[in-house]
Amino acid sequence: MFENAKWIIHGDNKQYEAVSFKRELNISKKVKMATLNITALGVYCAEIDGVRVGDFILAPGFTSRKRVQYQTYDITKMIDTGSVLSVSLGEGWYKGKINFGTDEGGPEKKKALMAEIRILYTDGTRDVIVTDEGWLVKKDKIRYVDLYDGERVDANYEDSYVNAEIYNDPPSVKVVKQEGVYVKEQEILRPLRIFTSPNGDTLIDFGQNMTGYFEIELDAKIGDRVALSVCEELDKYGNFYNENYRDAKAEFEYICHEGHNVYKPRLAFWGFRYMRVDAFPTKIQRDNIRAIVLHSDIKRTGYLDSSSPLLNQLFSNIIWGQKGNFLDVPTDCPQRDERQGWTGDATVFCRTATYNYDVNQFFTKWLSDLALDQEKNGHIPHIIPQTICWDWSVAEHSGAVWGDASTIIPYQLYLTYGNKDILKRQFTSMKRYIKYITEHTKEKYLWSGCEQFGDWLGLDAPEGSYRGSSNEDFIASVFYAHSTLLVAKTGKIIGARVDKYEKLYEKILAKIRKTFKKYKTQTECALALYFNIAEDKKAVAFQLNNMIKENGNRLKTGFVGTPYLLHALSQNGYAETAYELLLQESFPSWLYSVKQGATTIWEHWDGKNEKGEFWSKAMNSFNHYAYGSVADWVYMEACGIHTVEDKPGFEEVLISPHPTNKLDHLSARIDTKYGTISSKWYHFEGKVRYEIITPVPATIIIDSKEHRVSKGTYIF
Ligand code: BGC
Repeated sequence: MFENAKWIIHGDNKQYEAVSFKRELNISKKVKMATLNITALGVYCAEIDGVRVGDFILAPGFTSRKRVQYQTYDITKMIDTGSVLSVSLGEGWYKGKINFGTDEGGPEKKKALMAEIRILYTDGTRDVIVTDEGWLVKKDKIRYVDLYDGERVDANYEDSYVNAEIYNDPPSVKVVKQEGVYVKEQEILRPLRIFTSPNGDTLIDFGQNMTGYFEIELDAKIGDRVALSVCEELDKYGNFYNENYRDAKAEFEYICHEGHNVYKPRLAFWGFRYMRVDAFPTKIQRDNIRAIVLHSDIKRTGYLDSSSPLLNQLFSNIIWGQKGNFLDVPTDCPQRDERQGWTGDATVFCRTATYNYDVNQFFTKWLSDLALDQEKNGHIPHIIPQTICWDWSVAEHSGAVWGDASTIIPYQLYLTYGNKDILKRQFTSMKRYIKYITEHTKEKYLWSGCEQFGDWLGLDAPEGSYRGSSNEDFIASVFYAHSTLLVAKTGKIIGARVDKYEKLYEKILAKIRKTFKKYKTQTECALALYFNIAEDKKAVAFQLNNMIKENGNRLKTGFVGTPYLLHALSQNGYAETAYELLLQESFPSWLYSVKQGATTIWEHWDGKNEKGEFWSKAMNSFNHYAYGSVADWVYMEACGIHTVEDKPGFEEVLISPHPTNKLDHLSARIDTKYGTISSKWYHFEGKVRYEIITPVPATIIIDSKEHRVSKGTYIF
């Protein structure tokens, strides 16, 4: 592939200025088959005779700086005599502000194109056209583009073509076959409401916080201007508010040509629910604009439903949180000047993610990047792919839970999908991570003395801190133990020697137990229970339950404690308290945000207070999926659908629901490769009735009674 193709550039490469390449295909014979192999340093959009090639938006995607994926498109039906291939190219993830304008991502690094067209004619002859200096290039109508800042387009701009230049000293990057899932346009949202805000702005509400772009359609005079800005939330007065986007301008500007204009961006995306119309030639109408939802083309597999409309809205918010943040890589948020593959967020959400959608291939690609970007000493960068801005050295920062993405996510892909290959592929990376911790801890058999994120955004954080007050050495040590155990389990599954890791795990466990005898926060108790650290589980569960009761049935946990809190309660006899937390409507809780009108998951429990005031503009995303991890408790504990460790991928299933009087009914459904598993319970004539469908042998536990069943439908 690409044997003779060269990286080509526009000689006058300017950062943030899109360029457009062109190649006449000179077809003179009948074509039997034609394919386009193409990739870019940047993001590209290819067209043949004005028709888009393929449906991968923001191709070639976001990968480690060490590699770039190429795509193959069948273009047989698109080409004919006189056909012309044109390709627009922008900065994308490769060198925009997402790299914080540092040298490596800066102007001297050039955006470039590489392509190859293979044509087989009906007479058996062949042509191969490759990128070289024979291609033409000009400055694009997209006059400015950056993922954070948006697009500025002049429909009338015409530059003259010049010959492309060969990129003589391109960065060393491996060109690899597409491994991930294409990002595609998924749905269209029409404006729900167009209205004037108290301060006189024209605003559009699309009714849903989402990730994507928009399409405008209007009749205009040449030079008429359209300008739009976006935001997620309105302020307490009902006015446009986007200070939480920080340095991401997230704007769009379009200068119209004469007549009918239809345009949608090609090389950028936005996270938004509302739009401010800063300029429009006429009074904007519903038909002038539509929002287009983008995300990786992952298949929905999981569904939750209950008798509570608020809870159902939460389920919807979790799904939209996943849609909004599964854009080629799992991101923290889609709107502000981050949109990075933060590892910790992915670690805590991945279990839920695997039930909601088939994310096997999506995470497989991301884990390849994780292994590639893992540092020499085994440290996992905090964001994958590693962009330049967060290139922190180990000495400064460690990142338990964040780094554990390297062990927890492959193991989850094994559990949910039965994917053993991923364990084989990631095993070296997993072991290197354990080695890194072992070599960097200040105290043997613990992970201590290193700077950590702690229980990120825990509500028990000391004033002015983002880190909850749980002991950071304790958290880190628990995850050191857990990851070591996962390495041992993985080794066994793939037939590698693991006694070293089994012994190490036992030693870490013993040392944690000896060192941390008391737990003083909800998160510490939850981790001690969930990860089998606590020796007297009854006492710790009692303590945790009391802490929650004393806090008015409310949680205080952050990114680390929250995903395990409800599990720790229901596994230890306190399912009702778990339900209290799930169904709590006042602050802080999941349903508090729902009652505040959330349509996605907030980064902070207190993103917006009851008066409608925002927490802070410094770090306040309304589309951060981490707390959406509560869905796995609903699938696994409330509805009871568990994977079976030695029959992974739902080759067998354990179903053990925990019903409550607080809801009339609850149901979960997961589509697996063996068929659909569903578990529903509801109150009927004073009793709980269970309806369970299993396509595979199952163990069903109802009221502590175990039933071994083969595939079928069961009612209890
Ligand atoms: C991100 C988080 C991330 C955290 C770690 C934030 O800025 O948005 O979600 O995990 O930093 O410190």
